[in-house]
Order: sequence, then structure tokens, then C-alpha cells
Amino acid sequence: MHLLKMSDLNQSDIERIIQTAERFKSNSDCEKHQGFIANLFFEPSTRTKLSFEMAEKRSGYQTIDFLTESSSVQKGESLYDTVKTVESLGVSAIVIRHPKDRYYKELEESVQVPIINAGDGKGEHPSQCLLDLYTIYEEFGRFNGLNILISGDILHSRVARSNALTLQRLGANITVSGPSFWQDAELGIPYAPIDEVIHKCDVLILLRIQEERHDLKEEQRDYLTSYGLTPEREQQMKTESIIMHPAPVNRGVEIASELVECQRSRIFTQMNNGVYIRMAIIHELLQGGVTNESITKKCSII
Ligand code: CP
Repeated sequence: MHLLKMSDLNQSDIERIIQTAERFKSNSDCEKHQGFIANLFFEPSTRTKLSFEMAEKRSGYQTIDFLTESSSVQKGESLYDTVKTVESLGVSAIVIRHPKDRYYKELEESVQVPIINAGDGKGEHPSQCLLDLYTIYEEFGRFNGLNILISGDILHSRVARSNALTLQRLGANITVSGPSFWQDAELGIPYAPIDEVIHKCDVLILLRIQEERHDLKEEQRDYLTSYGLTPEREQQMKTESIIMHPAPVNRGVEIASELVECQRSRIFTQMNNGVYIRMAIIHELLQGGVTNESITKKCSII
């Protein structure tokens, strides 16, 4: 089984992964496994790459690193041949980030070890989505009925796509916001200006402007005051509402710098939860996922 997109997981899979992450977070003595996991990042990453590495090592696996700039990609080797090569070396799983949307299409049938998508172009970012779900669940204990505002560069964001569609599936009320030229009509999620909905949301998910995927620098001028989270807007949020952002954050653009670590910000909590969620994803794919706890624990997430 691969984890390529959030629709690969049904509601009970999502529930089980979150419960496994909770178990790992509350008890750092998780099972240790033998084997190797390769991390193939064809795009820059700090959080996802280091977080997978941490999760792999904490689960007992040894990590195989790959640097595109010193690899045979520079000699023209294709993604397919690179991944088949790494599989031939005997790894247990392969984590891949790649700038091409659905890069995994040419791999999913012919690669026998699990592929974990660490982000495909503007497509999806399932491990980020799962850690965001875990962070929301940790806060509210549910998804059903929550008002969630996703604001920013929706069109170019793989996080927006994974989160909006999955949270909607789990019963949350999703609204998107941000510049109209970065909305994505195909998502089918209602749009509203941030000032019309900020006071109602339980969760505000801010998105980074994906500068590497377009050239709209002029449109970013005055972004914070027009579309971003200013101190004035933060004051309008409900007492219990939280702020999230997948990061890296453009301080002073999507969010006023002083709000990045404010009381209601969960931005660094998301990163911490990312390690446990990635441990849980690895557990799910390599150990079958079903634990005694997940069988016996009463389902309460959906
Ligand atoms: N959130 C996220 O994917 O960050 P990185 O690009 O640093 O991995």
C-alpha cells in the first residue's frame, strides 16, 4: 500500500493513524523496527524531510538520504529509474517529494515497497494534512461541525487541496479566503473575504504564498493588510480559536510576525505533531497499522 493522496485513506484509516500518533506522543518508547527508508526530495524541504527522518529513526529504521545535486539525476536519470534503483537496494519504503503534480502515476503500479508522498507539485501533501488533522483533533476532540477557514494561495497549495477535501469529508464546514486570483473553482469550496468570516472560525489555516509556482510578486504588495492575519483581525477571533500554518511562514506577509508564536498559534505544535504522525504513517504502511489499542479504543474522532 502507498500513501499518495488523502483519498487513499478512508475515515477509519485516518482515525487509526491519529490514534497511533497519540499513542506515540504519550509514550515515546515505540516499537523499534529494522530496515531502511529512503527519503528522495526533489524539492527543498526543512520540516517534512527532517520530520520523516526523525520519525524513521525513532521507529528504529536507518535512513537513506538522497541529494539531487550530487545524484545521477544530474546525468539525466529519470524519476522512474531513480526510484526503481532505490527499491533495488532493498529499502522498506520510499518517501518522495517532487515538483510534478501526481509524479507517482508512473510509479504506483511498478514499485512494490510503499511510497509515501511528501508533496507532489500543486497536488497533495498527505502527511501535512494528517498532522494538521491531529493538531485540530488534539484541540477540539472532533472535526464534525467545526468552522475552518483556509486562507491564502489556494490555487497553488497542495496543503489546501488535501486539507479542504479531507476536513469536508470529516464533517467540518470549510470556507476559503485570500486573493480572488488565487482561488480554485475546481475545489468546490465556498469563498468569503477574511473579514466576513474571521470572527466565526474555530480554526484559521494560513497558507504560504507559493512563489516557486508562479510569478505574481506585484500582487503580493499589501498582502498582509488586504488578506493576511493582522493583530486587528486576530482580535476578532473567538477565544478558543486557533491559528495554523504549514510553514515555512513568510512573516509579515501571511501573518504579522508577532502572531507566529501568539497564545492561539499552533504552528510549532503542528511541527511537533508531524513527527508522531509520520511515525504513525510508517507504522500503518509497514506494520499494517492495526494495533491492540486501535482495535479496542472506542471510535470518537469522526
Ligand atoms: N510544511 C512543509 O511541507 O514544510 P517544508 O517544505 O519545509 O517541508
